[in-house]
Amino acid sequence: IPVEPFDLIVFGGTGDLARRKILPALFRRYCAGQMGGSSRVIGAARSDLDEAGYRAFVSDAIAEFDPDATQNRDHLSAFLERVSYVILDARGDAGWDKLAALVQKDRVRAYYFSVGPGLFGDLAQRLHTYGMSDADSRIVVEKPFGRDLASARDLNRVLAQHFEERQIYRIDHYLGKETVQNLMAVRFGNMLFEPLWNSQYVDHIQITVAESVGVGGRGEYYDRAGAMRDMMQNHLMQLLCLIAMEPPAKFDPDAVRDEKLKVIRALDPVEPDCVVRGQYQADDGAPGYRDEVEAPDSTTESFVAIRAHISNWRWAGTPFYLRTGKRLKARASEIAVVFKDAPHSIFGVQAGRHRNILTIRLQPNEGIELGVTIKEPGPGGMRLIDVPLDMTFAEALGPDSADFPDAYERLIMDVIRGNQTLFMRGDEVEEAWSWTDPIIEGWEERGEAPIPYASGSAGPDDALMLMHRDGRRWREIR
Ligand code: BG6
Repeated sequence: IPVEPFDLIVFGGTGDLARRKILPALFRRYCAGQMGGSSRVIGAARSDLDEAGYRAFVSDAIAEFDPDATQNRDHLSAFLERVSYVILDARGDAGWDKLAALVQKDRVRAYYFSVGPGLFGDLAQRLHTYGMSDADSRIVVEKPFGRDLASARDLNRVLAQHFEERQIYRIDHYLGKETVQNLMAVRFGNMLFEPLWNSQYVDHIQITVAESVGVGGRGEYYDRAGAMRDMMQNHLMQLLCLIAMEPPAKFDPDAVRDEKLKVIRALDPVEPDCVVRGQYQADDGAPGYRDEVEAPDSTTESFVAIRAHISNWRWAGTPFYLRTGKRLKARASEIAVVFKDAPHSIFGVQAGRHRNILTIRLQPNEGIELGVTIKEPGPGGMRLIDVPLDMTFAEALGPDSADFPDAYERLIMDVIRGNQTLFMRGDEVEEAWSWTDPIIEGWEERGEAPIPYASGSAGPDDALMLMHRDGRRWREIR
């Protein structure tokens, strides 16, 4: 569906995120016919480029990060016609008059702050001063949204001086992932699951976001953040909210975000023995974390696992195990809802213990799998085995269905349409920091260092113990 003509202004237009994600996403939406009319993309940054230079930059970015770019050459030149560039200083006045003259006031304008949070205030202030922050304008801000509760509050306050909450789109790109949205469809579009979705029937829930890559070229940022701030406070907590929240009355922004907020508010504080943090070691050939970030004494974690509890009527007594880390065995993200044993086995002890597990595979090989127990075929009596009822989306819906739009494509179009459902509200972000801050402060106070783990492993053994001591096991990362 085409959207109204818009101007999207990318501050930090020559940065890494613009190159890898924002510009290729816009191009794909253009190819899909969604950048109708005279919609434009305006890059703004300090780099000394003219329009032709920026168009070449955009073209290179698309060639590098859009796998289908070469098939869409005709589209590419037409798309580049829509692209312009302004040299601009976020902290000074250079370039702002030119930008103000360029943007059109009679259409939706989205200002994408693809810059560090230190510049959010300057940008918001100047958009206001130069008359660009009226009711039809929106701002998009990237994570990390602050580094703790105090800084997130400051950012919210600064943005609120010039923009209303309905104009602020805080991105967590996990919410734009097709399978994450599917989580809500599965929960609230079926009768089958919801009646069992509580502590009476669910033994525990596991959320794993495992990456095989290390910190790569982002060492400087990452070493100040760590897995807790980079992944847990946002992506994993958002997944936790979607899996645990009450059914919202409607699929609309505040109804959904109110329910997510209630989950975060109901989280118990985490005891020190319910958290494990790790740091990956050098492996033959691959550098260790400390080599990669060039900080030989760094105590930043590249892995974190938590046992969380939600103290509310639905979930009291059901633990949620969350883990995320870099340089693990595989890139594999999934949510597993592990149901309780059947109350009584009519087949006797020899039939063994069997459990239903509903697995939502976020990436790769996106799909949903339900483990069910059946009789093992054959004459040998009543022997039970577990088999997956597997719905790999690519198989169930045809190969084209595996061609999911990138999260940024969906999210940017939602900004233009004015739909905030998949964006974090200010109070949600603050509440998430209130839960993670004491964990991080605890590490600092106790001078606790992360536990080393082998690259290509499942993380430190202590993370395995976190479940073993409860008589449970993590699912294999593969
Ligand atoms: C980003 C983190 O938000 O998410 C990165 O900053 C991480 O450290 C990335 O690698 C993971 O995203 P995805 O979409 O590849 O799972």
